[in-house]
Formats: sequence, C-alpha cells, structure tokens
Amino acid sequence: MRGYLTDPAAAAGLRLTDGLPEPDPAPDEFVLAVRAFVLNHDELNLIRRRPDGWRPGQDVAGEVLRAAADGSGPAEGSRVVVRLEQGGWAERIAVPAHTAAVLDPGVSFEQAATLPIAGVTALRALRHGGSVLGAEVLVTGATGGVGQFAVQLAAASGARVTAQVSSPERAGDAYESGAHQVVTRLDQLPGLGPFQLVLDGIGGPRLADAVRLLAPQGAAILYGNIGGPTALSISDFYAQGWNGRLIGLISGNPDASMATDLTLLVRLVAAGRLNPRIGLVQDWERTADALTALARRELRGKAVLTLPAAQPTCRTGYREPLLDHQV
Ligand SMILES: NC(=O)c1ccc[n+]([C@@H]2O[C@H](COP(=O)([O-])OP(=O)(O)OC[C@H]3O[C@@H](n4cnc5c(N)ncnc54)[C@H](OP(=O)(O)O)[C@@H]3O)[C@@H](O)[C@H]2O)c1
Repeated sequence: MRGYLTDPAAAAGLRLTDGLPEPDPAPDEFVLAVRAFVLNHDELNLIRRRPDGWRPGQDVAGEVLRAAADGSGPAEGSRVVVRLEQGGWAERIAVPAHTAAVLDPGVSFEQAATLPIAGVTALRALRHGGSVLGAEVLVTGATGGVGQFAVQLAAASGARVTAQVSSPERAGDAYESGAHQVVTRLDQLPGLGPFQLVLDGIGGPRLADAVRLLAPQGAAILYGNIGGPTALSISDFYAQGWNGRLIGLISGNPDASMATDLTLLVRLVAAGRLNPRIGLVQDWERTADALTALARRELRGKAVLTLPAAQPTCRTGYREPLLDHQV
C-alpha cells in the first residue's frame, strides 16, 4: 500500500513509499479509502520532531471500504471525515468507528478534510466565550487555518468580529469570512476594543496587545504560539481587562465528541453557512510541495491533497470548493 513516511533525506522530510502494510482493523474499526487530506501547521513541527519513519496524517476524508466487523459506525460506501492521531497520508487506514462523521451529499471530500483540526479548534475556542451574540470578538491570525473558521463561526453566532491579519493584502479574505473590521496591528489604534472574547493562535507580543484590549472579565483563548513566546504581567490586565481569563485550549484527541463536533461543522457547510477557504488542491504525490508552501506562508487557505477513487463513486450534489488558486 502507498503512503507517506518521514525521512529527513527526502524533500520536506517526507517520502512516498509503496511498501506500507495494509490496515489491520480491530473489530470496532472500519477501513477508510482516503480521498482527501489537509495539511495543518503543527504537522510541519511533527514531521521535524519525528524524522524516522513516522506516518503523518490527521485530517482525512474518504469512503468506507470495509465497515467495522462489530457492526458499529458507518456502513460500507459511506462518505466520512475523521480526525486521526497519525497515518492518514496513505491510501487506506483503519479508523475507530465512533470517531467518524458522515458527510452530507453536498459536502465534498476537499471541504470536509479541512474541518477536523482547524474547524473543531475554532469551534471549541469559541465555545469558551459562552454566548457571543452581540459581543465584540477579536480573532488574530484571521486568515490562517483556524482563524478563518473562528471568524466565520463567531460572525455566524452573532458576534461583531474584528479580524487581525498579517498584511493589508489579507484583509479581503477576512471580510469575505464575515469580519466586520480588519486590522493589521493591535497597538496604537485608538478606539479598538474592548473585546469580550479573544481567539489567539499567534502568541508573541500580539497576545500581550490583545490582553490589553480585553473587556472587564473578558476571556482570551490561546490555542497556538506561531509568533513565539509572550511576556505578560498583571499590568496588562489593568488596562481594562480586570479579572479577565486566559485559557490554554487543546482541541482534543479523536473521540466520540470529535465526531459530534465534526457532524455539526459538516451540516453548517452543507447549509452554506460555513465555507472552508481552500487555497490549494493538488494530487497527493505533491504533498512535499504543499508542505513547503505552507512553511513559506504562501497559501491563502487550507492545502488539500487528493487521492483517486478506489472504486466508482456517486458524485451527485457536490459543490465546488472555494478556491483562491488551483494548482
Ligand atoms: N491547541 C490546539 O489544539 C491547536 C489546534 C490547531 C492549531 N494550533 C496551533 O495554532 C497555530 C495556528 O495554526 P493554523 O493551523 O491556523 O496555522 P496557519 O494556517 O499556518 O495560520 C497561521 C496564521 O498566523 C499567521 N502567522 C504565521 N506566522 C506568523 C508569525 N510568525 N507572526 C505572526 N503571525 C503569523 C499567518 O499569517 P499569514 O496568513 O500571513 O501566513 C496565519 O494567519 C499554530 O501554532 C498551531 O500549531 C493549536
């Protein structure tokens, strides 16, 4: 079977091999024929940290090739999306039946594969703010994988969303996601905030800026520190965020609650209320190129890698994904 292994001597630290063993499912696991997977920022780090034959791949959509022997989970032929710990960048993989979300007919494999890490992290971060109806919400890194979903979900929940983006060129993307206001920096902007909720995946000095913009008893949810460590002190809360909270969010391991949240997101996509921004779709043999583009910050949306169908499939009802550029 074909699939990817880490190999420090190969491009982007990754080698496609045809020597992998076929999946050997436990009774409560089904065999998935992978049709699309996406890249997440943290996978760049994982590939670096686990260089010796580790099998990457967490966000995957595909068709159930063989249902679980114990009868649980989706039936053969079902189209599903799953969040895995590893191993999803392969033709086939065994998946615990209770972790899968079945796709609505209108949701493509490409769209679905964007949801597990980025979509679920945004959803769970937003939930920490409670009801955001009418609230001022700040999303940093708003055109990133998680950020784009955070903006869309917060706006769909009735918040007034301020999006922080890395450059003016990214502003249009953030407005398209539903942001009400877009900024490139958080300091020296009179009138900005206060925010009842901050969703931050960047950290660094920007997080300290964001804390100074917190409303009294507001919450800052930290899910990443792509911009480095943050120096923070109580004086940052004295600005206005008295008794504010900082929450370190870990989006969670694959389990039944992951399937529940994935099902919610799939339904929002099917209803046209959530539009995964996809910046690149290409054949999975070009995964190394896509990883390089992600590392260089060249993408404007999620990178999706696709695999050919293992068997004839019904494609009725598919909607075209939103593409910024297609390779
Ligand atoms: N805690 C969890 O469970 C969890 C889950 C998912 C992700 N994460 C973490 O969250 C972070 C973001 O993940 P992601 O998948 O959304 O990444 P992503 O798709 O690469 O997006 C990153 C965003 O941050 C901006 N950015 C990148 N490098 C930056 C820097 N040095 N300084 C300031 N801004 C920078 C990017 O701007 P451009 O658009 O200009 O590139 C983009 O808007 C990562 O650290 C990831 O590991 C954590």
